[in-house]
Amino acid sequence: MNDCATMRPTPTSVSSETLHTLRMRAERLGLDFRPCPAATFEQGVHHRPLGSGLHELIVRDGNEAMHAFVADRGFLDRSGDPSPSGSLTVEHPAPRAALVDDAQRDATRFAEILRWTFDDLGTCAANERVVADFCDKLAQSYEETYALFRALRMLASSAEPESMVQSLCADIQRTLPFRWVAVQFGRNERIAPTLRAKLVLSGAFQGDLVRLEAATSDRVCETRGDSWTKVLVPERDGIATIAGSEVVCEPITHDDSVIGLLLAGGKTGADQEIASPEIQFLDATADFLGTFHENIARFDEQKAMMNATLEAMVAAIDAKDRYTCGHSERVALLAGTLAKAIGMDDASAERVRLSGLVHDVGKIGVPEAILCKPGKPTDEEFAAIKRHPEIGHHILHNITGFEDLLPGVLHHHERWDGRGYPHKLVAENIPLIARIIGLADAFDAMSSTRSYRSALPRERVLEEIRRGAGSQFDPNVVMAFQRVDLTEYDRLLTQHSAGEAWQPRVAA
Ligand SMILES: [Fe+2]
Repeated sequence: MNDCATMRPTPTSVSSETLHTLRMRAERLGLDFRPCPAATFEQGVHHRPLGSGLHELIVRDGNEAMHAFVADRGFLDRSGDPSPSGSLTVEHPAPRAALVDDAQRDATRFAEILRWTFDDLGTCAANERVVADFCDKLAQSYEETYALFRALRMLASSAEPESMVQSLCADIQRTLPFRWVAVQFGRNERIAPTLRAKLVLSGAFQGDLVRLEAATSDRVCETRGDSWTKVLVPERDGIATIAGSEVVCEPITHDDSVIGLLLAGGKTGADQEIASPEIQFLDATADFLGTFHENIARFDEQKAMMNATLEAMVAAIDAKDRYTCGHSERVALLAGTLAKAIGMDDASAERVRLSGLVHDVGKIGVPEAILCKPGKPTDEEFAAIKRHPEIGHHILHNITGFEDLLPGVLHHHERWDGRGYPHKLVAENIPLIARIIGLADAFDAMSSTRSYRSALPRERVLEEIRRGAGSQFDPNVVMAFQRVDLTEYDRLLTQHSAGEAWQPRVAA
């Protein structure tokens, strides 16, 4: 038993399974296999004649080994003792030499059958490893496909583009075996302002980030629209040298111009070589980012057009009455601030602010003589003034992008107790945006000088607001108003009252 070479290791889990199956099969052949020290046996199945009619069968798989003794008929015939584990019995005594020959053949046949079994099991284990490997690759492909789907869904939104790109980088970094993933956008005029010159990075970048940003920003400018994916290598490329590892560099294009780069570096795992599926995944993601930038650029254009439209409207409203000059801007400021005090998110508060900006657009349709008339209007004149919410709604209702602003325009003169106009809505039937603008409107009307009276002192205005809780105003909105900081409002009011050259400021 001392003449065996060192064995190649086999996974223990496979060995246990193999030995278990071999044992089951050996039992069916009438053999009793028991564990034995493995170190000195070669891998595989061995038949060892021990002399005096006793044979040993040994199976080693990995770090485990089993053996069984096979006693031949001659041994039994001589001693009558089947120990240590005789598995053949003599039923009909025969000449000794013939018995020995028979037993020798049986032992050899047992060893042969076990060897085949062992080889079959080895093949099965190898096949299982291939299947397991394939399953791993399939699971990784599924992960990558699903990650691309998530990327598409994520980038379909145009809200807060930088954080969208940040989430995308984090998602890629979780899916692919890279320590860090980054997107560098270019710095020229073609890049959407919300993304221009931005470096977005996810993961643990271990080099000098300032140098990386400078190098990648320059590389965006140098990269041509028809460039392909590159794997940058340290010592041969500046970016890879700063990163201290190979870096996959994917150009992000919009209208055949490079507007940014998608970078992934610091590959992890046993296989350090950047694989083709990883490059394909990054290539597809860079395409998504190009489309995303296209959407963002269009969105920015639409926003600029919307702001220009709003500016024109606000200028038209306020030009009608010098006393209300700046009213729209102040109501917008107060309404937006109040919306946040109530707990609205930034996007909702912005809609409230914009609605406040155009809440009186319907006054364009009210004769100037009525709007600017000193003193109290007649019932007929007041009826004309009361039409402005519906006129405003009519002006705006067909403009794309203004849909969310309409309830604030139409209902900002409703009252909590149902005595407002135009629809006499009661309490929470009044859209919240209109309840907020209604309070901001009343506060500014009392705080500024009008054609028919001077501005009221601040304490008196606040008292009137508190008194109106539950009758004119939503009590919860009044409560939130107590928390609003009026510093910026007062600055605007002073500026407008001083008659400074005034331009409507639409952007927040
Ligand atoms: Fe109004």
